[in-house]
Amino acid sequence: MTGQSNDESIEVMLAAAETFPPPPGFAEGSRFSDPAIYEKASGDPEGWWAGWAGELEWFEPWKEVLDWSDPPHARWFEGGRINASVNCLDRHVAAGRGDRIAYLWEAEDADDGSGDGRRGVTYGELLEETCRFANGLRGLGIGRGDVVGIYMPMVPETVVAMLACARIGAVHNVVFGGFSPESVRDRMDVSGARALVTADATLRRGSPVPMKAALDQVLDGLGGLEHVIVLDRCGTDPPMAEGRDLRWADVIAGQPEKCEPERMESEDPLFILYTSGSTASPKGIVHTTGGYLTHVSATHRMVFDLRDDDVYWCAADIGWVTGHSYIVYGPLLNGATSVMYEGAPDYPTRDRWWEIAARYGATILYTAPTAIRTFMKWGDDLPAAHDLSKLRLLGSVGEPINPEAWLWYRHHIGGDRCPIVDTWWQTETGGIMISPLPAITATKPGSATLPLPGIEAKILDGEGHEIEGQGLGGNLVITKPWPGMARTLYREPERFIETYWSRFGQETYAVGDAAFRDGDGYFWIVGRLDDVINVSGHRLSTMEVEAAVDSHPSVAEAAVIGVPDEQTGQAIVAFVTPRDGTSDGVEPEAMTAEIREHVAERIGKLARPARVYYSEDLPKTRSGKIMRRLLRDIATGHDLGDTTTLRDPSVVESLAAQVEAADS
Ligand code: WT7
Repeated sequence: MTGQSNDESIEVMLAAAETFPPPPGFAEGSRFSDPAIYEKASGDPEGWWAGWAGELEWFEPWKEVLDWSDPPHARWFEGGRINASVNCLDRHVAAGRGDRIAYLWEAEDADDGSGDGRRGVTYGELLEETCRFANGLRGLGIGRGDVVGIYMPMVPETVVAMLACARIGAVHNVVFGGFSPESVRDRMDVSGARALVTADATLRRGSPVPMKAALDQVLDGLGGLEHVIVLDRCGTDPPMAEGRDLRWADVIAGQPEKCEPERMESEDPLFILYTSGSTASPKGIVHTTGGYLTHVSATHRMVFDLRDDDVYWCAADIGWVTGHSYIVYGPLLNGATSVMYEGAPDYPTRDRWWEIAARYGATILYTAPTAIRTFMKWGDDLPAAHDLSKLRLLGSVGEPINPEAWLWYRHHIGGDRCPIVDTWWQTETGGIMISPLPAITATKPGSATLPLPGIEAKILDGEGHEIEGQGLGGNLVITKPWPGMARTLYREPERFIETYWSRFGQETYAVGDAAFRDGDGYFWIVGRLDDVINVSGHRLSTMEVEAAVDSHPSVAEAAVIGVPDEQTGQAIVAFVTPRDGTSDGVEPEAMTAEIREHVAERIGKLARPARVYYSEDLPKTRSGKIMRRLLRDIATGHDLGDTTTLRDPSVVESLAAQVEAADS
């Protein structure tokens, strides 16, 4: 998937493309069954988005829907004042829906006998908890514009922490719980976080994995970080630093259940979320308030065709943008009832998801292709043993879904009756951009189909001309501003423009994905064009992993690439030149284990290379540039062509022999 699209695979996909119209009867009761909404939105995009914004509650109305006079700096709903937590919570409680369940939470150890592993959290309770925690934060002197880190397991308190920040105008910076403490430290450091909310530990496959104690190893010396607030999830009683560390229970103790919300400007930041780019340092994507809320509430309602009695389950982690937009903000803005599951899909058995889906009567399931492929591998009999008949809609996100997995999902999970929405978007876009509308769009396995109403996407060639022909790959771009768009990179405004708004001019958002269109104008996303690797839907930069491998004391030089992988979409392969003497007598397996462990410590387990190959030098041009394309060919066993321009062609032979030995 890395690099350019491959014409041969495109032809194969197009030839195989079967079309699935919305199932009979699906459109009944749907609010989005009239294809005319596409023309309505494209005829007046600002009016379209303003209509959605009008469904939210504003303290003060906006004066202008969109100011695009200084691209790429968009200002949406300027003059409007709004609070995200009020829209997610107070609005529903005031409408008499305080007893409605917001989250059906299932602990990983729900069956341990303690009886508290399944909690239905109502909108009313969520509001009270949010207010108490918000008051607690305020009591610590945290307020408008302050950055608060969140490094938490999948528990309702994580949502409380995010919404409490939003309530008092603080900017949350969530770090996925699978990232290492060092990554947390870096992200707190670069964002100048004043507080960090975490838990004593997170449950993983039955045992507590320490979070707070692990953070203690790295947090010293972070001058700006005044407080670490610790939720007791696992009862592990970590050490607490006097003055800095506070228990969650103590922060909310005695706090009132009401908390005056800040009247935020529409363009005030709501959150920062770090994501990988093509350099070693992650980018702090900044999302603001009014536009983001408008985009995620609209897309959540349209794409999932949300109805009052739906039990919606987005099985992502809150630590990724999918969780921000489609576990927290979108569903809460729409007053939805969501399933939230804390743990691993194979704990205690590999049918845990299907047990959960059946138990709660999930009607919508939104997950990633890598999970679907894993379930395929685990066997058809597992979902078949559970009653999944309530499901009416399935979603996919995070990476291209291969047609086999799509068809398996449709048949074995969806019982051939559920439409599948393959939703393309990014951390930067805030919300879904290209996706079917399930009551309108005929779907094709592997295609995200068409831009949503109000969104305009194109495919450009290298010169910036639109490619109109069928099946010709090029650069995916977005050609109109949209309300959920990232506004900047935190503390790196220049990098924001360079990365996204320079390639094709300052009014065209360069996505970084390769894509093509078919004869029906449908979009097929092929993969990344930059040095970003997508492992199981987790976005990593080759440079970031490379820097981590490089920092191992025995490594002189490293190059990291992504290669196609049946299970994880892409897998990480590292090529390493050991430092002189350091690996003498060391078995390569031992060295590889060490390097993997080192990367896990630096970034997180998800970034560990699947394979490591060693050589005395890396393949380089005579001017000393590492030839990544050649590494990719070596790793995938492709024909290497002419290698005589290399500084040392023998390196390539040695590496190719290692790859061949590993494959056989
Ligand atoms: C990259 C964004 C979107 C939230 C989770 C990932 C790839 C995402 C699809 C899809 C093909 C997809 C793209 C994109 N991607 N969804 N439906 N079909 N590719 O967010 O970590 O910001 O990654 O994920 O390459 O650029 P992210």
